[in-house]
Amino acid sequence: MVAATGSFRLLVTMMLLSLLLFLSVLHNNVRSSKILVISSMPAHSHYTLAFRLAKELADREHHVTFMNPYPQKTVIKNLREVSLEDTVPWVNEFKKTLFISPKTLFSNIQESCVLGGGTTEYALNNTNVQKLLTLEKMFDVVILEHFLNEALLGIAHYFNSPAILLEPIPTSKKTNYLFANPSPSSYVPDLLGTFTKHMNFWQRLQNFISNNFDDVLREFVYLPVQRKLFNKYFKTDIHLDDLLYNISLILTTSHPSINDAIPHTPNTVEIGGYHIFLPKTLPQDLQNYLDNASEGVILFSIGSNLKSKDLTLKVRKAILNSFSKINQKVLWKFETDLPEAPKNVKIMNWLPQQDIIGHPNIRAFITHGGLLSTTEAVYYGVPIIGIPVFGDQKSNIAAAVSNGYAIEVPLAKLTEEMLSEALNEILNIPKYKENVQKRSKLMHDQPLKPIDLAIYWIEYVIRHKGAPHLRSAGLDLKWYQREMIDVIAFLIACVAAILTVVYITIKKVICKRKSVKKTNKLKKNKLTF
Ligand SMILES: *[C@@H]1O[C@H](CO)[C@@H](O)[C@H](O)[C@H]1NC(C)=O
Repeated sequence: MVAATGSFRLLVTMMLLSLLLFLSVLHNNVRSSKILVISSMPAHSHYTLAFRLAKELADREHHVTFMNPYPQKTVIKNLREVSLEDTVPWVNEFKKTLFISPKTLFSNIQESCVLGGGTTEYALNNTNVQKLLTLEKMFDVVILEHFLNEALLGIAHYFNSPAILLEPIPTSKKTNYLFANPSPSSYVPDLLGTFTKHMNFWQRLQNFISNNFDDVLREFVYLPVQRKLFNKYFKTDIHLDDLLYNISLILTTSHPSINDAIPHTPNTVEIGGYHIFLPKTLPQDLQNYLDNASEGVILFSIGSNLKSKDLTLKVRKAILNSFSKINQKVLWKFETDLPEAPKNVKIMNWLPQQDIIGHPNIRAFITHGGLLSTTEAVYYGVPIIGIPVFGDQKSNIAAAVSNGYAIEVPLAKLTEEMLSEALNEILNIPKYKENVQKRSKLMHDQPLKPIDLAIYWIEYVIRHKGAPHLRSAGLDLKWYQREMIDVIAFLIACVAAILTVVYITIKKVICKRKSVKKTNKLKKNKLTF
């Protein structure tokens, strides 16, 4: 009897357990999706953006596969990694040329072809990627961190899933063609240029020319490289362009608190600032260092792609001299030893920038003006001294200067006096701090946190099977139709035709009158004779 009750209990327990298991499977089926996140560019800023999104999706019970060049050493729940590590050494070689200036439109496009072609082919050739392609049948959505890797859209096509682009930059001429997003050259400056949204006639002319030139170079020089890779690695009748112009959603790393107020199609969602994690506690020695800085601390970092150790000796000396004259401490991300550094300068090989910049004793941030660094400065309300070098850094700093919370010190002209003057101004004139805090308030005043907004829209695309209703009809037009050039040409032709008719008619009438007059005269003359 006792034994019978025992086995009955066991049976009931097992039934309950299987019911629970069944319910949880059901629950997961409803709520969690299979998501592939691809980040192919070995650069920490790019990786940071993709990782933040992948991790958040995994935390929210989605099954995430994350293809990236810097796989984690620890296991993360719901997150499987596909390593693209083999690209790293090749790109590191490439990065050594970053300080070499000046960049021209041609050298930029050439770099894009080589860097983009190289990293994309590394990814497509990668054995881990090949394995994934044979192992998996489908994903609910593929999120591509879009940076010189358009051919990787073939992976989304292969898995028959909608594609979302995560843009490491604001919308601009560089991406707008994918969405038919309006981008008038009259007030949307080239991202790689130095203009702000307010341009005079000559700047607008230059912006117009460089934007259109850029379009031509992309179409006839850059994209052919990607099209070729696509055709080589994906056996399909579909063209890369069919996929390029069929993207469901674009998430941009921008926000009007930092970037310009410009038009956006409804499938463009601005999530600038989403990469910022809740502050973590600092290592104790760093915490003490910051807490005990009664005069404040200047944070100095030029990001992860550029290396402070690669600055020329002359520039390094100018920087150190100018630091030696201020009362503040300076925390400098510097990759080697720096024995000649003055007492108030602390060198760190690596530093937790996001957590340091939020410390109340940080008085200013000297930065290369990368978008993430600029965003973090605005998020925490810290004024900027910008030393932009390449890419979008110049236009980021130009915007920050025009919004009144930054001073630019161009690297090519950097001297001790110039940096000292900038430091003096940023530390002693209150408007820089006030302006950046105003921007910070704007950034925090949003209906949803940027990361929640990103997740909402990704799940929206999954729920609505690619959300094709958001796609702009502008994508179905040729460029001259979209820009109304055919219509304007037609109107000009009409006006020209009407003017011609009027001209000919008038000419005929006048001639007739003249000849009538002449004959009248003749008649009169005859009469007098
Ligand atoms: C374009 O995307 C939609 C979903 O948004 C999908 O149904 C369709 O098959 C895609 N077309 C191509 C050519 O991939």
